[in-house]
Amino acid sequence: MTKVTLIPGDGIGKEICAAMMVVVQATGVLIDWEITSAGIETFEKTGTLVPQEVFDSIERNKIAIKGPLETPIGKGHSSINVMLRKKYDLYACIRPVKSIANISPRFPNVDLVIFRENTEDLYMGVEEIISGDEAHSIKIITRKASVKIAQAAYEFAVKENRKKVSIVTKANIMKATDGLFLDACRSVAALYPQIKTDEILIDNMCMQLVIDPTSTDIILTQNLYGDILSDLCAGLVGGVGFVPGANIGTDIALFEAVHGVANDIAGQGIANPTAMILTAAMMLKHLGYAQEALNIENAVETVFQDPANYTRDLKGPLDTQAITKKIISALKP
Ligand code: NAI
Repeated sequence: MTKVTLIPGDGIGKEICAAMMVVVQATGVLIDWEITSAGIETFEKTGTLVPQEVFDSIERNKIAIKGPLETPIGKGHSSINVMLRKKYDLYACIRPVKSIANISPRFPNVDLVIFRENTEDLYMGVEEIISGDEAHSIKIITRKASVKIAQAAYEFAVKENRKKVSIVTKANIMKATDGLFLDACRSVAALYPQIKTDEILIDNMCMQLVIDPTSTDIILTQNLYGDILSDLCAGLVGGVGFVPGANIGTDIALFEAVHGVANDIAGQGIANPTAMILTAAMMLKHLGYAQEALNIENAVETVFQDPANYTRDLKGPLDTQAITKKIISALKP
């Protein structure tokens, strides 16, 4: 039985993780969940955001899946998410964005994957307050990390028979940092002549995605642009309740959906667990259970064909438990 560290997290985390666990169980894959707690609630109880046993569990199992963790805006603690990604060098943030059923009629055929560099950029938190009226944030980009994310994107393109990688930067303005990222990506692109490479500025990328997301295949970009594009792309396919994600390093993999803690709906039992369930499917595929992962994806696709099965975020009638049951019933035996 595979042991996996589970961190339910804050806000809607417990609700969607409970849903995710029963769906995984229904696929027949036996997972021994090592449930640990981290986040704001844990901090309030224990005085620490991430107790040592969470690190121990991740380091022992090498595979973890988590719900969202809250990072208060503009004050207090730095992000646990960013810390975990840096600590375990989870350099590749991979987010597949795919149209599901007919949820988003304007864009029925989106099928793109975001490869976001996960450890550098403005997210390193190198900030300095110069005075009450001036603050600086340092953008850090290295060739090593840029090459690693580019290699991950191109290797994925080959393996999954994808056609095109779009390198997204603002290299016309940030010539040193984005220029370096672009140069590193170009050096990797040259090794994969069979994959088409586009270079596109982040502002233009946003516009192209909103006009016609079907012309984008793989997005290769930095941390901040990747974060923003993830939510933009989620909006194209029904919202953040539908987009899964993985943070992959050489040794450890940590799976999590794109969305945050959604405190506005937490505790009401109405969160959409689909993104978390699809995140578990990514994890199962990573663990070698490709058929079971596909089974989950197909079940989600089938269930959302019927607007009577829509969740509250789609203005439908189903709450967290009801949609979970529907997905389980749609799983092939
Ligand atoms: P958010 O994703 O929590 O919420 C944005 C909107 O989407 C809200 O209206 C929310 O109700 C809705 N929403 C999100 N997930 C949903 C779901 N599964 N079902 C139905 N509706 C859903 O984003 P926001 O407000 O930017 O961030 C809130 C907090 O979450 C912040 O503290 C942020 O740092 C944290 N966060 C954590 C992440 C993580 O742990 N990976 C990722 C993104 C944000």
